[in-house]
Amino acid sequence: EGADMVDQLDNGLRIVDKGYLNTACMESSITLIDGKRGYIQYRNHSIEALFEHNDYEEVIHLLIWGKLPSSAKKQTLRRKLAAEMKAPQCVINVVRSFPRDSMTFPMIIAALAAYASVDEGARATHTKGEPQYLGKGKAVDEAVIRTMSILATTIALVYCHKRGRSLNAPNPEGSFIGNILLMMGFLEPGTEHTQPLPNQKIEKCFERLWILYADHEMTNSTAAFLHAASTLTDPLSCCVTGIVSAYGPLHGGAIDLAYKGFEDLGTPENVPKLISAVKAKKQRLFGYGHRIYKVVDPRTKFIRQLIEEYKEQVKSNPLLSVALEIDRVAGEDPYFTSRNLKANADLYGCFLYTALGFETDIIVAMASLSRTPGVMAHWRESMGTWIVYVPLGHPMQCV
Ligand code: ACO
Repeated sequence: EGADMVDQLDNGLRIVDKGYLNTACMESSITLIDGKRGYIQYRNHSIEALFEHNDYEEVIHLLIWGKLPSSAKKQTLRRKLAAEMKAPQCVINVVRSFPRDSMTFPMIIAALAAYASVDEGARATHTKGEPQYLGKGKAVDEAVIRTMSILATTIALVYCHKRGRSLNAPNPEGSFIGNILLMMGFLEPGTEHTQPLPNQKIEKCFERLWILYADHEMTNSTAAFLHAASTLTDPLSCCVTGIVSAYGPLHGGAIDLAYKGFEDLGTPENVPKLISAVKAKKQRLFGYGHRIYKVVDPRTKFIRQLIEEYKEQVKSNPLLSVALEIDRVAGEDPYFTSRNLKANADLYGCFLYTALGFETDIIVAMASLSRTPGVMAHWRESMGTWIVYVPLGHPMQCV
């Protein structure tokens, strides 16, 4: 046993940390979450203040570049994002090769691979071994913008293909969210045959809803992205890793499964059956529980506020009463209260999407897209403070 210990120490200390509950992969100054008190700050700004006073592009700038932009800087960011919303023919061909009823995420993954196959940054990284993205230089900033716009275009392409539509062109002066809606075909009524404009109601809602999802510290998908990036692979390829993690049932995929659960139940009267099955450990309650929050997820109140603002559309969905009943029954049940299990942002978030006309096959992808600023902020931060990890037991060396 003694020899084993010496051998272990020679090779560095190894700790089994299932689920990475106690392992930090980097220090960060981007987002602070207090799971016990229930608050979130992006760069020292509370999400309450950002939700009330800012729009999504301002928050993109804040998360990635550390401060809120002037209106000129915001417009520049907007133009740069719009300019990168392009779909090369090989990507279109890959997406079109899928049957329309294919699963959304495998299509996204394939399209991202096709994008990476023609991306100059990816080519230089992988064929010449050039460290394209170390430091905080122009190449990193350009890649941040390109990656965000490519993921947006990919999701729009997949959405359109699944519905047998072609992609609309983005507006070079339009907002990031506006252009996503434009490409997907969510248009302002009456503008379809003239100069198509993005649907104003959806754009206004997402400008605030997406602030709530823009970052969430080191979530599984962000960590997965950074894990891949630590080998200095290109950010588009890292996006595949992040996306694969994001659609897992215990992570972003819970949105879809929560909604499917409401559909299966159909009416509030069936809720006790579900709760009994959950308590008997036959199934999880999707949309419930959170690794960090031991109080109510602070985003929930803003989602409810938005639901109230869009109540006409949301309340016409009979499944909302199922979700409310689940929350009511679970909220009074010792199984959930003794374990501090509460509704997470996914229990109600899906109702906004469905109320605004999004089918369930695209909601998880949209929610993942809303997280891209945070992921890219963490990637940029990690490139700026990049460390070469040498074998365990040896000193770390900064480049
Ligand atoms: N339904 C039923 N039981 C649950 C749930 C749930 N949703 N969540 C936790 N539990 C139970 C566990 O079975 C365990 O019980 P035990 O003490 O008898 O063994 C106890 O609560 C603690 O569970 P853990 O898995 O240790 O909790 P953890 O904090 O690690 O898990 C997680 C967090 C994965 C989010 C979990 O709550 C879950 O699976 N929720 C459902 C999926 C979901 O909604 N995910 C979305 C999260 S938000 C996001 O990623 C966007």
